[in-house]
Amino acid sequence: MPKLLIRDLRQVVSPAGTAAPLRGNALADLDWIDGGYVLCDGPRVEAVGRMSDLAPLEGDVAELDGRGLCAIPGLVDCHTHPAFVGDRVEEFALRASGAGYEELHAAGGGILSTVRATREAGEDGLRRAVERHRGWMLRAGTTTFEGKSGYGLDRETELSSLRAISAAGGVPTFLGAHAMPPEFEDADEYLDFLLADVLPDAATSAEAADVFVERGAFDARQARRYLEACGSHGLALRLHGDQFTESGAVPLAIELGARSVDHLEATGPDGIAALAASEVTGVLLPASALVLARPMPPGRALVDAGAAVALATDFNPGSAFCESLPLVMSLATTQLKLSPAEALTACTVNAAHVLGRADRLGRIAPGYAADVVLLDAPDWRYVAYHLAGDVVATVIKGGTVALGRAAY
Ligand code: NIG
Ligand code: FE
Repeated sequence: MPKLLIRDLRQVVSPAGTAAPLRGNALADLDWIDGGYVLCDGPRVEAVGRMSDLAPLEGDVAELDGRGLCAIPGLVDCHTHPAFVGDRVEEFALRASGAGYEELHAAGGGILSTVRATREAGEDGLRRAVERHRGWMLRAGTTTFEGKSGYGLDRETELSSLRAISAAGGVPTFLGAHAMPPEFEDADEYLDFLLADVLPDAATSAEAADVFVERGAFDARQARRYLEACGSHGLALRLHGDQFTESGAVPLAIELGARSVDHLEATGPDGIAALAASEVTGVLLPASALVLARPMPPGRALVDAGAAVALATDFNPGSAFCESLPLVMSLATTQLKLSPAEALTACTVNAAHVLGRADRLGRIAPGYAADVVLLDAPDWRYVAYHLAGDVVATVIKGGTVALGRAAY
Protein backbone atom coordinates (compact mmCIF):
# COMPACT_ATOMS: atom_id res chain seq x y z
CA MET A 1 0.00 0.00 0.00
CA PRO A 2 1.59 3.35 -1.01
CA LYS A 3 1.74 6.13 1.54
CA LEU A 4 -1.03 8.73 1.29
CA LEU A 5 -0.15 12.42 1.39
CA ILE A 6 -3.05 14.82 1.92
CA ARG A 7 -1.47 18.11 0.88
CA ASP A 8 -2.20 21.83 0.79
CA LEU A 9 -4.94 21.62 3.40
CA ARG A 10 -6.36 24.95 4.46
CA GLN A 11 -6.41 23.83 8.10
CA VAL A 12 -5.47 20.69 10.04
CA VAL A 13 -7.08 20.60 13.47
CA SER A 14 -6.79 18.00 16.22
CA PRO A 15 -7.22 17.81 20.01
CA ALA A 16 -3.78 18.59 21.49
CA GLY A 17 -1.55 16.35 23.60
CA THR A 18 -2.01 12.66 24.27
CA ALA A 19 -4.14 12.62 27.45
CA ALA A 20 -7.70 11.28 27.65
CA PRO A 21 -10.32 12.06 28.63
CA LEU A 22 -9.86 15.81 28.36
CA ARG A 23 -11.67 18.03 30.86
CA GLY A 24 -11.89 21.67 31.87
CA ASN A 25 -9.79 24.06 29.81
CA ALA A 26 -7.98 21.19 28.09
CA LEU A 27 -11.24 20.27 26.33
CA ALA A 28 -10.81 23.27 24.02
CA ASP A 29 -7.07 22.88 23.50
CA LEU A 30 -6.49 22.16 19.79
CA ASP A 31 -3.41 21.84 17.60
CA TRP A 32 -4.34 24.07 14.67
CA ILE A 33 -2.18 24.31 11.53
CA ASP A 34 -2.99 26.71 8.70
CA GLY A 35 -1.68 25.41 5.37
CA GLY A 36 -0.82 21.86 6.34
CA TYR A 37 -0.42 18.25 5.31
CA VAL A 38 -1.18 14.83 6.75
CA LEU A 39 1.01 11.89 5.72
CA CYS A 40 -0.47 8.42 6.27
CA ASP A 41 1.60 5.25 6.20
CA GLY A 42 -0.90 2.44 5.75
CA PRO A 43 -3.46 2.53 8.55
CA ARG A 44 -1.52 5.01 10.74
CA VAL A 45 -0.64 8.69 10.58
CA GLU A 46 3.08 9.09 10.06
CA ALA A 47 3.41 12.87 10.18
CA VAL A 48 1.41 16.09 10.33
CA GLY A 49 2.82 19.55 9.70
CA ARG A 50 3.01 22.75 7.72
CA MET A 51 3.35 22.52 3.94
CA SER A 52 6.34 24.84 4.24
CA ASP A 53 8.12 22.18 6.36
CA LEU A 54 7.29 19.22 4.07
CA ALA A 55 10.50 17.63 2.82
CA PRO A 56 10.50 15.74 -0.53
CA LEU A 57 9.11 12.23 -0.03
CA GLU A 58 10.83 9.08 -1.28
CA GLY A 59 9.06 6.03 -2.73
CA ASP A 60 5.50 5.31 -3.68
CA VAL A 61 3.22 8.10 -2.41
CA ALA A 62 -0.38 8.73 -3.53
CA GLU A 63 -1.43 12.35 -3.21
CA LEU A 64 -4.76 13.88 -2.36
CA ASP A 65 -5.30 17.55 -3.15
CA GLY A 66 -6.52 19.26 0.02
CA ARG A 67 -6.86 22.75 -1.44
CA GLY A 68 -9.94 24.45 0.02
CA LEU A 69 -10.44 21.67 2.57
CA CYS A 70 -10.01 21.46 6.34
CA ALA A 71 -8.98 18.23 8.10
CA ILE A 72 -10.40 17.08 11.42
CA PRO A 73 -10.06 13.63 13.05
CA GLY A 74 -12.49 10.92 11.97
CA LEU A 75 -15.52 11.31 14.24
CA VAL A 76 -16.23 8.67 16.89
CA ASP A 77 -19.87 7.94 17.69
CA CYS A 78 -19.79 6.26 21.11
CA HIS A 79 -23.56 5.73 21.53
CA THR A 80 -25.79 4.34 18.77
CA HIS A 81 -28.58 1.76 18.45
CA PRO A 82 -28.08 0.61 14.83
CA ALA A 83 -29.34 -2.99 15.17
CA PHE A 84 -32.97 -2.42 14.26
CA VAL A 85 -35.26 -3.16 11.38
CA GLY A 86 -38.34 -1.16 10.35
CA ASP A 87 -39.15 2.37 11.42
CA ARG A 88 -41.28 4.38 13.79
CA VAL A 89 -42.50 6.99 11.35
CA GLU A 90 -46.13 6.53 12.50
CA GLU A 91 -45.05 7.16 16.09
CA PHE A 92 -43.11 10.21 14.91
CA ALA A 93 -46.28 11.60 13.38
CA LEU A 94 -48.35 10.72 16.48
CA ARG A 95 -45.88 12.51 18.73
CA ALA A 96 -46.38 15.65 16.66
CA SER A 97 -50.05 15.55 17.63
CA GLY A 98 -49.32 15.18 21.32
CA ALA A 99 -48.61 11.47 22.06
CA GLY A 100 -45.87 11.04 24.68
CA TYR A 101 -42.74 8.88 24.14
CA GLU A 102 -43.12 7.14 27.51
CA GLU A 103 -46.90 6.63 27.04
CA LEU A 104 -46.34 5.00 23.65
CA HIS A 105 -43.81 2.64 25.28
CA ALA A 106 -46.16 1.80 28.17
CA ALA A 107 -48.87 0.95 25.61
CA GLY A 108 -46.59 -1.61 23.91
CA GLY A 109 -45.39 0.73 21.15
CA GLY A 110 -42.11 2.62 21.09
CA ILE A 111 -39.08 0.37 21.69
CA LEU A 112 -41.32 -2.74 21.77
CA SER A 113 -42.66 -2.10 18.27
CA THR A 114 -39.06 -2.06 17.00
CA VAL A 115 -38.44 -5.29 18.93
CA ARG A 116 -41.26 -7.00 17.01
CA ALA A 117 -39.89 -5.90 13.61
CA THR A 118 -36.30 -6.74 14.52
CA ARG A 119 -37.14 -10.26 15.74
CA GLU A 120 -38.87 -10.99 12.43
CA ALA A 121 -35.95 -9.85 10.27
CA GLY A 122 -33.54 -12.70 10.98
CA GLU A 123 -29.77 -12.36 11.10
CA ASP A 124 -29.40 -11.54 7.39
CA GLY A 125 -31.96 -8.77 7.61
CA LEU A 126 -30.25 -7.36 10.68
CA ARG A 127 -26.85 -7.46 8.99
CA ARG A 128 -28.19 -5.58 6.00
CA ALA A 129 -29.78 -2.98 8.28
CA VAL A 130 -26.62 -2.37 10.32
CA GLU A 131 -24.53 -2.10 7.12
CA ARG A 132 -26.93 0.49 5.77
CA HIS A 133 -26.85 2.48 9.00
CA ARG A 134 -23.06 2.33 9.06
CA GLY A 135 -23.02 3.78 5.52
CA TRP A 136 -25.15 6.71 6.66
CA MET A 137 -22.79 7.34 9.57
CA LEU A 138 -19.73 7.24 7.31
CA ARG A 139 -21.25 9.85 5.01
CA ALA A 140 -21.61 12.10 8.05
CA GLY A 141 -17.92 11.66 8.95
CA THR A 142 -18.14 8.88 11.54
CA THR A 143 -15.18 6.51 11.15
CA THR A 144 -15.77 4.53 14.35
CA PHE A 145 -19.14 3.68 15.83
CA GLU A 146 -20.31 1.86 18.91
CA GLY A 147 -23.52 -0.09 18.41
CA LYS A 148 -25.89 -1.52 21.00
CA SER A 149 -28.14 -4.55 20.85
CA GLY A 150 -31.42 -4.09 22.70
CA TYR A 151 -34.11 -4.57 20.05
CA GLY A 152 -34.01 -8.35 20.30
CA LEU A 153 -34.55 -8.98 24.00
CA ASP A 154 -34.43 -12.70 23.24
CA ARG A 155 -31.35 -14.88 23.04
CA GLU A 156 -31.20 -15.34 19.29
CA THR A 157 -31.86 -11.73 18.26
CA GLU A 158 -29.62 -10.19 20.93
CA LEU A 159 -26.71 -12.39 19.83
CA SER A 160 -27.35 -11.78 16.11
CA SER A 161 -27.49 -8.03 16.79
CA LEU A 162 -24.05 -8.12 18.43
CA ARG A 163 -22.66 -10.18 15.54
CA ALA A 164 -24.19 -7.81 12.96
CA ILE A 165 -22.59 -4.81 14.67
CA SER A 166 -19.17 -6.52 14.74
CA ALA A 167 -19.53 -7.62 11.12
CA ALA A 168 -20.13 -3.98 10.11
CA GLY A 169 -16.96 -2.93 11.96
CA GLY A 170 -18.75 -1.46 14.98
CA VAL A 171 -17.88 -1.75 18.66
CA PRO A 172 -20.63 -3.95 20.14
CA THR A 173 -22.40 -3.22 23.43
CA PHE A 174 -24.85 -5.67 25.05
CA LEU A 175 -28.05 -3.76 25.91
CA GLY A 176 -30.19 -6.74 26.87
CA ALA A 177 -31.60 -4.59 29.69
CA HIS A 178 -33.16 -2.03 27.34
CA ALA A 179 -36.81 -2.90 28.03
CA MET A 180 -38.77 -5.85 29.34
CA PRO A 181 -40.07 -7.99 26.44
CA PRO A 182 -43.79 -8.95 26.28
CA GLU A 183 -43.20 -12.62 27.17
CA PHE A 184 -42.08 -11.62 30.69
CA GLU A 185 -44.21 -10.01 33.36
CA ASP A 186 -41.55 -9.30 35.90
CA ALA A 187 -38.29 -7.41 35.32
CA ASP A 188 -36.34 -9.59 37.76
CA GLU A 189 -37.44 -12.75 35.98
CA TYR A 190 -36.36 -11.23 32.68
CA LEU A 191 -32.98 -10.40 34.22
CA ASP A 192 -32.68 -14.01 35.52
CA PHE A 193 -33.11 -15.17 31.92
CA LEU A 194 -30.73 -12.58 30.45
CA LEU A 195 -27.95 -13.30 32.90
CA ALA A 196 -28.23 -17.09 32.72
CA ASP A 197 -29.08 -17.68 29.06
CA VAL A 198 -27.77 -14.70 27.06
CA LEU A 199 -24.92 -12.99 28.91
CA PRO A 200 -22.36 -15.84 28.74
CA ASP A 201 -22.48 -15.82 24.91
CA ALA A 202 -23.08 -12.07 24.57
CA ALA A 203 -19.88 -11.50 26.58
CA THR A 204 -17.85 -13.30 23.93
CA SER A 205 -18.74 -10.71 21.26
CA ALA A 206 -19.60 -7.54 23.20
CA GLU A 207 -17.04 -5.17 24.71
CA ALA A 208 -19.46 -3.43 27.08
CA ALA A 209 -22.87 -3.76 28.70
CA ASP A 210 -25.51 -1.06 28.99
CA VAL A 211 -28.82 -0.73 30.86
CA PHE A 212 -31.73 1.71 30.62
CA VAL A 213 -32.28 3.01 34.17
CA GLU A 214 -35.64 4.76 34.16
CA ARG A 215 -39.22 4.50 35.40
CA GLY A 216 -40.92 1.99 33.12
CA ALA A 217 -37.58 0.28 32.36
CA PHE A 218 -35.13 -0.91 35.08
CA ASP A 219 -34.57 0.55 38.54
CA ALA A 220 -31.19 1.11 40.16
CA ARG A 221 -31.32 -2.16 42.12
CA GLN A 222 -32.00 -4.17 38.97
CA ALA A 223 -29.38 -2.23 37.04
CA ARG A 224 -26.78 -3.00 39.71
CA ARG A 225 -27.55 -6.71 39.51
CA TYR A 226 -27.30 -6.73 35.72
CA LEU A 227 -24.14 -4.62 35.58
CA GLU A 228 -22.34 -6.56 38.32
CA ALA A 229 -22.97 -9.79 36.44
CA CYS A 230 -21.85 -8.22 33.14
CA GLY A 231 -18.73 -6.83 34.82
CA SER A 232 -17.84 -10.26 36.14
CA HIS A 233 -17.86 -11.46 32.51
CA GLY A 234 -15.26 -8.82 31.68
CA LEU A 235 -17.54 -6.26 30.04
CA ALA A 236 -17.04 -2.52 30.48
CA LEU A 237 -20.11 -0.87 32.00
CA ARG A 238 -22.35 1.89 30.67
CA LEU A 239 -25.75 3.23 31.69
CA HIS A 240 -28.62 5.13 30.10
CA GLY A 241 -29.44 7.43 33.01
CA ASP A 242 -31.39 10.56 33.96
CA GLN A 243 -33.16 10.74 30.58
CA PHE A 244 -36.56 11.63 32.09
CA THR A 245 -35.97 11.34 35.86
CA GLU A 246 -33.00 11.14 38.21
CA SER A 247 -33.29 7.43 39.03
CA GLY A 248 -29.95 6.69 40.68
CA ALA A 249 -27.93 5.95 37.55
CA VAL A 250 -25.23 8.55 38.27
CA PRO A 251 -24.27 7.32 41.78
CA LEU A 252 -24.48 3.72 40.56
CA ALA A 253 -22.21 4.45 37.58
CA ILE A 254 -19.65 6.05 39.89
CA GLU A 255 -19.80 3.26 42.47
CA LEU A 256 -19.37 0.54 39.83
CA GLY A 257 -16.59 2.38 37.97
CA ALA A 258 -18.63 2.55 34.75
CA ARG A 259 -17.08 3.96 31.58
CA SER A 260 -20.02 6.31 31.06
CA VAL A 261 -23.49 7.41 32.01
CA ASP A 262 -25.42 8.66 28.99
CA HIS A 263 -28.34 11.11 28.45
CA LEU A 264 -28.37 13.24 31.69
CA GLU A 265 -31.19 15.52 30.50
CA ALA A 266 -32.67 15.39 34.03
CA THR A 267 -29.41 15.59 35.99
CA GLY A 268 -29.40 18.27 38.72
CA PRO A 269 -26.61 20.05 40.61
CA ASP A 270 -25.73 17.10 42.88
CA GLY A 271 -25.39 14.74 39.95
CA ILE A 272 -23.26 17.27 38.07
CA ALA A 273 -20.92 17.69 41.06
CA ALA A 274 -20.68 13.94 41.62
CA LEU A 275 -19.87 13.24 37.97
CA ALA A 276 -17.28 16.02 37.90
CA ALA A 277 -15.48 14.46 40.85
CA SER A 278 -15.49 11.00 39.22
CA GLU A 279 -13.78 9.09 36.42
CA VAL A 280 -17.10 8.42 34.67
CA THR A 281 -17.65 10.21 31.35
CA GLY A 282 -21.01 11.91 30.84
CA VAL A 283 -22.21 11.19 27.29
CA LEU A 284 -24.52 13.94 26.02
CA LEU A 285 -27.13 13.15 23.37
CA PRO A 286 -28.69 16.46 22.36
CA ALA A 287 -30.35 15.06 19.20
CA SER A 288 -32.56 12.86 21.36
CA ALA A 289 -33.48 15.79 23.63
CA LEU A 290 -34.31 17.79 20.49
CA VAL A 291 -36.45 15.08 18.88
CA LEU A 292 -38.39 14.42 22.09
CA ALA A 293 -38.64 18.16 22.85
CA ARG A 294 -37.02 17.54 26.25
CA PRO A 295 -34.72 19.86 28.18
CA MET A 296 -31.15 19.74 26.89
CA PRO A 297 -28.54 18.04 29.12
CA PRO A 298 -26.50 20.47 31.24
CA GLY A 299 -23.44 20.39 29.00
CA ARG A 300 -21.94 23.75 29.97
CA ALA A 301 -22.42 23.13 33.70
CA LEU A 302 -20.78 19.69 33.43
CA VAL A 303 -17.77 21.07 31.56
CA ASP A 304 -17.41 24.03 33.94
CA ALA A 305 -17.60 21.70 36.94
CA GLY A 306 -14.73 19.65 35.47
CA ALA A 307 -16.60 16.56 34.27
CA ALA A 308 -15.34 14.51 31.33
CA VAL A 309 -18.00 14.77 28.63
CA ALA A 310 -18.47 13.12 25.25
CA LEU A 311 -21.07 13.76 22.55
CA ALA A 312 -22.92 11.11 20.54
CA THR A 313 -25.92 10.80 18.23
CA ASP A 314 -27.95 8.10 20.08
CA PHE A 315 -28.94 7.02 16.53
CA ASN A 316 -32.11 4.90 16.88
CA PRO A 317 -35.54 4.69 15.21
CA GLY A 318 -37.47 6.35 18.05
CA SER A 319 -35.90 9.12 20.08
CA ALA A 320 -33.11 10.15 17.66
CA PHE A 321 -33.32 9.03 14.03
CA CYS A 322 -30.12 10.97 13.38
CA GLU A 323 -26.70 9.65 12.37
CA SER A 324 -25.01 13.04 12.06
CA LEU A 325 -22.32 13.99 14.56
CA PRO A 326 -21.90 17.32 12.72
CA LEU A 327 -25.54 18.09 13.57
CA VAL A 328 -24.87 17.01 17.17
CA MET A 329 -21.89 19.39 17.24
CA SER A 330 -24.18 22.20 16.05
CA LEU A 331 -26.62 21.41 18.86
CA ALA A 332 -23.76 21.20 21.36
CA THR A 333 -22.63 24.66 20.33
CA THR A 334 -26.01 26.39 20.05
CA GLN A 335 -27.94 24.57 22.80
CA LEU A 336 -25.39 23.20 25.29
CA LYS A 337 -23.09 26.23 24.90
CA LEU A 338 -19.95 24.23 24.29
CA SER A 339 -17.45 25.95 22.02
CA PRO A 340 -16.83 24.29 18.63
CA ALA A 341 -13.43 23.20 19.96
CA GLU A 342 -14.98 21.56 23.03
CA ALA A 343 -17.57 19.87 20.83
CA LEU A 344 -14.85 18.49 18.54
CA THR A 345 -12.90 16.97 21.44
CA ALA A 346 -16.12 15.55 22.89
CA CYS A 347 -16.86 13.50 19.75
CA THR A 348 -13.29 12.49 18.99
CA VAL A 349 -10.84 11.87 21.85
CA ASN A 350 -13.38 11.73 24.66
CA ALA A 351 -15.71 9.48 22.69
CA ALA A 352 -12.74 7.24 21.88
CA HIS A 353 -11.98 7.12 25.61
CA VAL A 354 -15.53 5.85 26.31
CA LEU A 355 -14.76 3.03 23.85
CA GLY A 356 -11.35 2.31 25.42
CA ARG A 357 -9.54 3.42 22.25
CA ALA A 358 -8.17 6.88 23.03
CA ASP A 359 -4.60 5.67 22.57
CA ARG A 360 -5.23 5.28 18.83
CA LEU A 361 -8.40 7.14 17.82
CA GLY A 362 -9.62 10.72 17.95
CA ARG A 363 -6.51 12.70 16.96
CA ILE A 364 -4.59 13.48 13.81
CA ALA A 365 -1.14 12.78 15.22
CA PRO A 366 1.74 10.38 14.51
CA GLY A 367 0.88 6.82 15.53
CA TYR A 368 -2.88 7.40 15.63
CA ALA A 369 -5.23 5.70 13.16
CA ALA A 370 -5.28 7.40 9.77
CA ASP A 371 -8.96 8.31 10.15
CA VAL A 372 -9.47 11.81 8.79
CA VAL A 373 -12.48 13.85 7.68
CA LEU A 374 -11.97 16.54 5.04
CA LEU A 375 -14.46 19.39 5.21
CA ASP A 376 -15.34 21.46 2.15
CA ALA A 377 -15.27 24.72 4.11
CA PRO A 378 -13.01 27.73 4.66
CA ASP A 379 -12.82 27.05 8.42
CA TRP A 380 -13.13 23.72 10.25
CA ARG A 381 -15.78 25.21 12.56
CA TYR A 382 -18.24 25.07 9.65
CA VAL A 383 -18.77 21.45 10.73
CA ALA A 384 -20.87 22.87 13.58
CA TYR A 385 -21.67 26.31 12.15
CA HIS A 386 -23.33 25.10 8.92
CA LEU A 387 -26.44 23.57 10.46
CA ALA A 388 -27.20 20.28 8.66
CA GLY A 389 -24.81 21.50 5.94
CA ASP A 390 -23.17 19.23 3.40
CA VAL A 391 -19.63 19.93 4.60
CA VAL A 392 -18.13 16.42 4.77
CA ALA A 393 -16.31 16.08 1.43
CA THR A 394 -14.01 13.10 1.98
CA VAL A 395 -13.64 10.47 4.66
CA ILE A 396 -10.40 8.54 5.09
CA LYS A 397 -10.48 5.44 7.24
CA GLY A 398 -7.37 3.43 8.01
CA GLY A 399 -5.41 5.39 5.39
CA THR A 400 -7.88 4.57 2.60
CA VAL A 401 -10.41 6.92 1.02
CA ALA A 402 -13.73 5.48 2.16
CA LEU A 403 -15.87 8.27 0.74
CA GLY A 404 -15.34 11.20 -1.61
CA ARG A 405 -12.47 12.37 -3.75
CA ALA A 406 -9.97 9.65 -4.59
CA ALA A 407 -6.21 10.01 -4.23
CA TYR A 408 -4.12 9.87 -7.40
O1 NIG B 1 -31.24 6.11 24.18
N1 NIG B 1 -33.88 5.56 26.11
C1 NIG B 1 -33.69 4.43 25.74
N2 NIG B 1 -33.23 4.01 24.56
C2 NIG B 1 -33.00 4.81 23.39
C3 NIG B 1 -34.21 4.99 22.57
C4 NIG B 1 -34.68 3.75 21.98
C5 NIG B 1 -35.91 3.88 21.12
O2 NIG B 1 -36.75 4.79 21.28
O3 NIG B 1 -36.04 2.99 20.27
C6 NIG B 1 -32.37 6.13 23.74
O4 NIG B 1 -32.97 7.21 23.60
FE1 FE C 1 -29.46 5.40 23.71
